[in-house]
Amino acid sequence: MILVTGASGHIGSRVTEILASKGAQFRAMSRTPDRLGKPKDIDIIYGDFEDPKSLEKAFSGVKTALIISGNAMPGKRCFTHKVAFQAAREANVDHIIYLSLMGSSSTSAFPYSRDHFESEKFLAETGLAFTSLRNAFYLDMFFQKIGADGIVRGPGGEGKGAFITREDAAQVAAAAALNPPVGVIDITGPCALSIAEVAARFSKLVGKELIYQDETVDVARVRLQGSLNDEWKRDVEIGWFEAIARGEQLPVTDSFLQMTGKQPQTIEQYFEDFPHLFNVLNGNLPDETDDQVRKLA
Ligand SMILES: NC(=O)c1ccc[n+]([C@@H]2O[C@H](COP(=O)([O-])OP(=O)(O)OC[C@H]3O[C@@H](n4cnc5c(N)ncnc54)[C@H](OP(=O)(O)O)[C@@H]3O)[C@@H](O)[C@H]2O)c1
Repeated sequence: MILVTGASGHIGSRVTEILASKGAQFRAMSRTPDRLGKPKDIDIIYGDFEDPKSLEKAFSGVKTALIISGNAMPGKRCFTHKVAFQAAREANVDHIIYLSLMGSSSTSAFPYSRDHFESEKFLAETGLAFTSLRNAFYLDMFFQKIGADGIVRGPGGEGKGAFITREDAAQVAAAAALNPPVGVIDITGPCALSIAEVAARFSKLVGKELIYQDETVDVARVRLQGSLNDEWKRDVEIGWFEAIARGEQLPVTDSFLQMTGKQPQTIEQYFEDFPHLFNVLNGNLPDETDDQVRKLA
């Protein structure tokens, strides 16, 4: 039995679709099971990393657990993951798969990369066999970073990243759940792109000007004070760009091919497969956090 946590999230919901299409036996865990609807033949269970009692039931009889990282703030989130890893150990799970991040390190510029690093330490402490999927930054994160004026602003300089689509992150997570543990592995898209290059590729797709404007950390901090009230959220936003500037989202690897037998999607293929993304980029649809969009994908 495979357990998929965060089953109503972007990656979790897509992984359950992929597993179902392959006829795999799985259980979908969610804090919000009602959001999953009532799909036929799917074992759905309530579970929350912050409610350890709920995990006992959710992990019971599970041999492979795909633990999708949750939404808490960096520095605190790793402790919620620790609870999930411990529940997996109590249940004698054979293989834990954890959704981590490329560049995870105690010295990363990106707060969530530091948090993932701590999570991975807790994961190793369980002594269980694991796969830690260190995904590169999702290409989809750019949708939230393009301003209404078509400009992406942030201190990313000319740094490059091996961005992966959210769809491919789901594909590789599903593949990992059906295969033996491989330890820590960097999962990337097909090539390294600067922020300006991503903006240019998006521009070409939608036929309107989208550009990148580099800014200093200090300028970014002042600008973000207008839109993000919490300092830690400003740190996350700025750290995302700084991690790219520092090369933390490199190099390109062939792990996606090794894990799935397929090549990772290019930006153009992604838009071809999920045409609603043209509307997201054109501002005619809300960004990818919207439920409707998720259903379309
Ligand atoms: N590589 C990147 O660029 C990148 C970008 C964004 C996110 N990420 C990481 O990848 C993860 C999954 O991405 P996503 O796009 O699927 O994010 P998402 O749509 O926000 O899904 C995350 C899901 O985690 C579950 N969750 C949150 N708190 C939880 C808790 N306390 N206990 C159990 N489950 C909890 C929730 O699902 P339920 O309500 O169904 O429980 C939530 O929908 C993110 O959480 C983040 O760590 C990486």
